[in-house]
Amino acid sequence: MKDTPVRPQDRFLVFGAPQIEQAEIDEVVDSIRSGWLGTGPKVARFEEEFKHYKGAPNAVAVNSCTAALHLAMLASGVGQGDEVITTPLTFCASVNAIIHTGATPVLADVDPRTMNIDPARVQEAITPRTKAILPVHFAGRPCEMDALCTLATKNELMIIEDCAHAIETEYQGRKSGLFGDFGCFSFYVTKNVITGEGGMVLARDEALAARIKVLALHGMSKDAWKRFSDSGWVHYQVVEAGFKYNMMDIQAALGIHQLRRVEKNWQRREEIWRRYNEALQDLPIGLPTDADEDTRHAYHLYTVMVAKGRSGISRDEFLSAIQEQNVGVGVHYLSIPEHPYYQERFGWKPEDYPNATRIGRETVSLPLSPRLADSDADDVIEAVRRVLQG
Ligand SMILES: Cc1ncc(COP(=O)(O)O)c(C=O)c1O
Repeated sequence: MKDTPVRPQDRFLVFGAPQIEQAEIDEVVDSIRSGWLGTGPKVARFEEEFKHYKGAPNAVAVNSCTAALHLAMLASGVGQGDEVITTPLTFCASVNAIIHTGATPVLADVDPRTMNIDPARVQEAITPRTKAILPVHFAGRPCEMDALCTLATKNELMIIEDCAHAIETEYQGRKSGLFGDFGCFSFYVTKNVITGEGGMVLARDEALAARIKVLALHGMSKDAWKRFSDSGWVHYQVVEAGFKYNMMDIQAALGIHQLRRVEKNWQRREEIWRRYNEALQDLPIGLPTDADEDTRHAYHLYTVMVAKGRSGISRDEFLSAIQEQNVGVGVHYLSIPEHPYYQERFGWKPEDYPNATRIGRETVSLPLSPRLADSDADDVIEAVRRVLQG
């Protein structure tokens, strides 16, 4: 019995499996039947509804959060000779987007309690070349936006929030993505609202939002997508060398209905989060810190810390053992300075970012999709117990 996995192989619990309902399927089919697959009216609707959900002045849909970050920086003139400060505990996309503007990324270590960028380390990293701070609301927990905004104002820096984990996040009553100049969101398949691949930029400034829209579609003049619509022939002009970063209507078809369930899904993830907290508290692992007062956590990732000394098993042994129980898990993230490209190019060393490095070596993300039934969550708990208790 003991050798039988918690779940059979044919019921492998896929990490981050999306919850897709009939409404999304019908909307996608509607797009396919209409023949309008590319950027069109559904993208415009999704932008409007996202803008409304966030209470933002301007929103531009793109095909990834990476594109959103890249264009937010380009549109506001970040480039060669500039520095942008970000966290070492993030997905490579946050750093790569900075590199692709021509600017230099600078890392500021995280606070070990929140796992978010530490404002004190940001302050130390500011130089005359610093142009922007790019905070990541890791796992859905808001960064210390008060301190970061004060630093930004004092040093005349832009703030570009990486909200890939943080659609529902709030800090002292204010919503993520609205603190600085731009907020960038991801609708990748494991995220809290999914379109398969997809992203959104919220921009404070209307002119910069308009520029992002142009840059996202080859640099063609405004509303170039309408050139194939029935509203008559429209000539477009290329006004800059842009990118192919536009969102498709098929993607927006998913996003529109996902967004309508965003709060319901948040509640479900919060329930699972509490279930894990209660059931795992006696085990020799670190559990995520609760949300701070006057903040809203988006509950995107439930991360536990596994360290050989405390847990009796290394993190990587834990990963293998839990997969053998047919429970899929994730690692968010091996810290940025662990990767050879960044070591070679920037000379970054893991030991210079001790908090992010330790977290990156110990962290394991357990499944937290709203699609999980209570019995699935219980399987995860049982799998963790078996792996730790033998
Ligand atoms: C923190 C963070 N930033 C950026 C991204 C990039 O998002 P996308 O895949 O939509 O480009 C991700 C994706 O996983 C992420 O987790």
